[in-house]
Amino acid sequence: MNYELQNAPIINRPEESAASLQMLDQMLEFKNLLLLYSSAMKMISTRLQILDEDYALKNERNPIHSISSRLKSTASIIDKLERRNLPVTVDSVRENLHDVAGIRVICSYLDDAYEVSRSIQKQKDITLKSVKDYIAFPKENGYRSLHLIVSIPVNLISTVQDVDVEIQIRTIAMDFWASLEHTLKYKKNIRNMDEIVKRLQFCAENIAEVDLAMMTIRNSIEKDDSPDDIKSQLINRLKKLEKGLS
Ligand code: GTP
Ligand code: MG
Repeated sequence: MNYELQNAPIINRPEESAASLQMLDQMLEFKNLLLLYSSAMKMISTRLQILDEDYALKNERNPIHSISSRLKSTASIIDKLERRNLPVTVDSVRENLHDVAGIRVICSYLDDAYEVSRSIQKQKDITLKSVKDYIAFPKENGYRSLHLIVSIPVNLISTVQDVDVEIQIRTIAMDFWASLEHTLKYKKNIRNMDEIVKRLQFCAENIAEVDLAMMTIRNSIEKDDSPDDIKSQLINRLKKLEKGLS
């Protein structure tokens, strides 16, 4: 094959050119969609950090222990659409997948999880699309967590679009449990699976009791503050905030 032929442009017939243009168009649209999801994720994450700082200013402690976020990979997006027999198109992602942008909020205490959930839902431009309260109604395997799907308007150069974000809120102990349980998903040849499932259910129940007990202990400690305690708490709070904001 001569050099010219070998390097001839791939698009050399009108129908091929149209197909390529269509594909490029879809790819750009997909990139645009990912930009929307990653922007929405950053916005919600920042809102949560701001709430945490505001709580620290008004109370002695931060309700949020940590926040992490992830954008679903393209391979997982396609995989989920195919598993559900849904069209693999940009519109289909927008309509059918609500967890492309995911945020996990880990709280120290049980009541903080609900407090964070209420505060984020209250924000004017955030719309709550669904709630699954797996804390009040745990899954059969013992999974506990609060799941919200919210949408937030994202401003780009020439458009404003409402974008879905999945927020999972749980305690440190629930998160510890969920990370271990999650590893089961990738193990195919576990011999004593039934036993492991039972032990995990047992641990989940223990964890729920411990979460409740820790919150009760914290409440008793906080209830008996003397004026001196309050003064030192205010000083500590100021010190902490100055450190955090610098
Ligand atoms: P997905 O298709 O996985 O998104 O599930 P869903 O649409 O039925 O939503 P659900 O709110 O039940 O679960 C969403 C996410 O929560 C999952 O992708 C996991 O990250 C987490 N999750 C739900 N159930 C479990 C569980 O039993 N164990 C663990 N470790 N995580 C879970
Ligand atoms: Mg998911």
